[in-house]
Amino acid sequence: MFVRNVLITGANRGLGLEFVKQLVVLSEPPLNLFATCRTPGTGKAKELQELSVANPRVKVLQLDVTDESSIVRAVEHVKKAVGNDGLNLLINNAGITTKGVTYDSVQASSAMNVLATNTVGPLLTTKAFLPLLRMASSKDTSHGMSCGRAAIINISSTLGSIELEKGGGPFVYNMSKAALNMLTKSMSCDLRKDDIMVVALDPTWTVTDLGGPRAPLSAEKSVEGMLNVMTTLNETHTGQFIDYTGKNLPW
Ligand SMILES: NC(=O)c1ccc[n+]([C@@H]2O[C@H](COP(=O)([O-])OP(=O)(O)OC[C@H]3O[C@@H](n4cnc5c(N)ncnc54)[C@H](OP(=O)(O)O)[C@@H]3O)[C@@H](O)[C@H]2O)c1
Repeated sequence: MFVRNVLITGANRGLGLEFVKQLVVLSEPPLNLFATCRTPGTGKAKELQELSVANPRVKVLQLDVTDESSIVRAVEHVKKAVGNDGLNLLINNAGITTKGVTYDSVQASSAMNVLATNTVGPLLTTKAFLPLLRMASSKDTSHGMSCGRAAIINISSTLGSIELEKGGGPFVYNMSKAALNMLTKSMSCDLRKDDIMVVALDPTWTVTDLGGPRAPLSAEKSVEGMLNVMTTLNETHTGQFIDYTGKNLPW
């Protein structure tokens, strides 16, 4: 899969950082890999900054998905770097969870923060990058939809599946991912006319700070699977919810 210009949110650790690591070593890596994070100048982004020094295709940009002005600043940087080529692939990966919150202890501020990050964040990030995604899509009219042409991948979770819900989980997080799933479906319908593919991808329970150490899958295997799936996606997949093995998931 050759994808000219890619942007990932939350790329300083976990699955986001692993996406960057695996994308740069592809036989045909992206020309520009915009690896965004909240605090690029701190120790939290040390490994990502080292990757960027070793590989100039990796461009580290500040982007907090809950701060619209930081998203707009990142768009300006990307615009300058890509010119008329636009942005081919936006991976809305940044996310947070709630641990130990109960129906008795839940606070409005922390619930709103989860929704702001996991649901409104991808919405505002997509809004800001849409002109660049449309630009990329219009440059490649000979093919159908693909990640190489113009696509939005929303990193979701089976915890956001209403059909699979069994209870007892982090319900605020689950709400945020169910809403992200609806956003994926809505955007896929509305952006079909622009030939922009929109897919919700589930990494499965994976070892990261969010997933914890007991998760059954490594970040390497999860991202390897998601990248393999992304190479196969076309217009028949837009508006679907798919896991890291390529299996369709129920909403
Ligand atoms: N791991 C799993 O088991 C699992 C399963 C299903 C779905 N997912 C989803 O996969 C995605 C990545 O999760 P992960 O496991 O890699 O989690 P993680 O290791 O905790 O990493 C989360 C990333 O999101 C960033 N982030 C948080 N809030 C942000 C904001 N407001 N703006 C920009 N970046 C922000 C974090 O940056 P800071 O370092 O600045 O906090 C970090 O880079 C999430 O959407 C998550 O819901 C994960």
